[in-house]
Amino acid sequence: MSELTRVRALVDRGLPDLWYAVIGSGEVGAKPVAVTRMGERLVVWRDAAGKAHIHADRCPHRGAPLSMGAVHGDRLTCAYHGVQVDAAGTIADVPALPDCPLIGKKGVRRYPTIEAGGGIFAWFGESEATPPKEFGVPEELTSPEWSGFLCTAAWACNYQYALDNLVDPMHGSYLHAQSFTLAYGSKQDRFRIDETNTGFVVGREGQRDVNFDWTEWGDTGGHWIKLDIPYPSGAGPGGPFRIVGFCTPIDHDHTQVFFWRMRKVGGWQRDLWRFLYRNRLEERHWHVLEQDRVILEKMPFDARDHERLYQHDIGVTRLRRILQQQAKERLERKAAAE
Ligand code: FES
Ligand SMILES: [Fe+2]
Repeated sequence: MSELTRVRALVDRGLPDLWYAVIGSGEVGAKPVAVTRMGERLVVWRDAAGKAHIHADRCPHRGAPLSMGAVHGDRLTCAYHGVQVDAAGTIADVPALPDCPLIGKKGVRRYPTIEAGGGIFAWFGESEATPPKEFGVPEELTSPEWSGFLCTAAWACNYQYALDNLVDPMHGSYLHAQSFTLAYGSKQDRFRIDETNTGFVVGREGQRDVNFDWTEWGDTGGHWIKLDIPYPSGAGPGGPFRIVGFCTPIDHDHTQVFFWRMRKVGGWQRDLWRFLYRNRLEERHWHVLEQDRVILEKMPFDARDHERLYQHDIGVTRLRRILQQQAKERLERKAAAE
């Protein structure tokens, strides 16, 4: 296999050694939850203190899904024969056989986990031994000055199409032309790229703060995007509406998208924003997001082998180059370690 083929295959799969959004905090309660991310079947669960953990969804005994089990204190108990695993992924007890030699052995892969802004994130190292990088969570998710909502959905497309869509602001003026917030401004422009410390901003040359006019992409231990959508007065007080997004591969042909919809508002404005969002805006935003989902799901996987890019696609081209470069570095690291 040529180097380029290996690089592409790794990008298609999703880059290891990064933090990814896995699931909304509110989706995990007292019962363990099964999800697939990065092609891996995972169980997400909370211990008795409420701390979230993520493990491979495979019982160390005979492989039953741990997600079918139950939490007891700080352990996850398999439904099949009652084997218990702790947060480190160690077999903590085998109740059916006292003094079982499996007790105390490492049993199941653990994915380092953090919870921020109403989402649960995990580190997908190349192997379990790869220590997690520090994760600079976007400040909108951690700062009390921001208030918002997480909206997450599964899309039937490779995650790269979801990313390409986000670093392509011009589609807003066409695909979403009829929408409440995206109907404004010129339908023609040129684009430029500005470098940042963590990535780049791709934006329109001729228009700012009118429509979806720019996207920032960044790598702070995990890959994210940010974009602003100026709000008409009907959307209540406060600054623009900011979207912070993460795209996590489920498998080769499915993506879990995470969009935090944030506004920098305090006091009564915050309450009004939260009220308006729930009662008026959320439905409209889902409608816009559906337009993205529907078109991306209709794009065949080899669409990118038959495309003719033009000036507006500089964001797409830049991001692909970065992902390929990062894939190359990871493959080299792996080869050096072997
Ligand atoms: S398969 Fe889980 S306890 Fe046997
Ligand atoms: Fe869109």
